Amino acid sequence: MSGMNEIDKSKVPQHIAIIMDGNGRWAKRKGLSRIFGHQAGVTAVRRITEACAEFGVKYLTLYAFSTENWNRPKEEVDALMTLLVDSIEKETPDLMKNNVRLLAIGDLGRLPEKAEQKFRNCMSQTDGNTGVNLVLALSYSSRWEITDAVKQIAKQVKEGSINIDKIDEDTISKHLTTNHIPDPDLLIRTSGELRISNFLMWQLAYSELYFTDVYWPDFDKEELRKAIVDYQHRERRFGKTSEQITENSKI
Ligand code: IPE
Ligand code: IPE
Ligand code: MG
Repeated sequence: MSGMNEIDKSKVPQHIAIIMDGNGRWAKRKGLSRIFGHQAGVTAVRRITEACAEFGVKYLTLYAFSTENWNRPKEEVDALMTLLVDSIEKETPDLMKNNVRLLAIGDLGRLPEKAEQKFRNCMSQTDGNTGVNLVLALSYSSRWEITDAVKQIAKQVKEGSINIDKIDEDTISKHLTTNHIPDPDLLIRTSGELRISNFLMWQLAYSELYFTDVYWPDFDKEELRKAIVDYQHRERRFGKTSEQITENSKI
């Protein structure tokens, strides 16, 4: 038995996805430039990855840079790309030490060559790790991903390797960049915004949603614990009735 405020180890979400938002406002509140917020955001990534390992979460997907974020001022985009390269370089030894496997979803080909290369190197280096799967969404958007999946499927239909009548939900899931990654059980968005911002729209179909006003650089293990405990008090019905769910859990 666990108390109302403690994590029930038997019901830990297997996959948590986070829209890490509020870096800019966090910095502004302190009278600093936005990039300081992004730097503090990297520290929060490290903290939350470690907390996930401790709590037993197997997949952590972080929205780091969206397709739409390319439209930010050039200085901010450049600073973010530099930060990405530096962080990957700096963090790889710790990822190895902590048994973290790095994965990516998104249009990596749009990243500056150096960033893409560093990223791919880190992914292959950590590929054999068996702890937390840390999935970074980079140059990612759900509409981009779904459009890309439709193109791949259409091509295979044209070539005759997919039969139109055989296309089902599984066919679509398999052509998304999240192929082999289970759907998120819990989605967290920080900073008080109540929207999805083009993130995992297919995969979030039955995820539990959790919003907090805390800015991402302030999000810590205690905030994560609160989100998980909140999640554990939800009843996930997947379209069924509450009675069906409680009956099944008795078996
Ligand atoms: C999230 O923080 C990080 C990225 C989108 C790269 P923001 O940069 O969106 O911070 P706010 O929302 O402006 O405070
Ligand atoms: C979503 O945050 C993208 C990331 C966290 C990387 P944004 O700050 O870009 O989202 P909007 O523009 O407020 O919807
Ligand atoms: Mg934002």
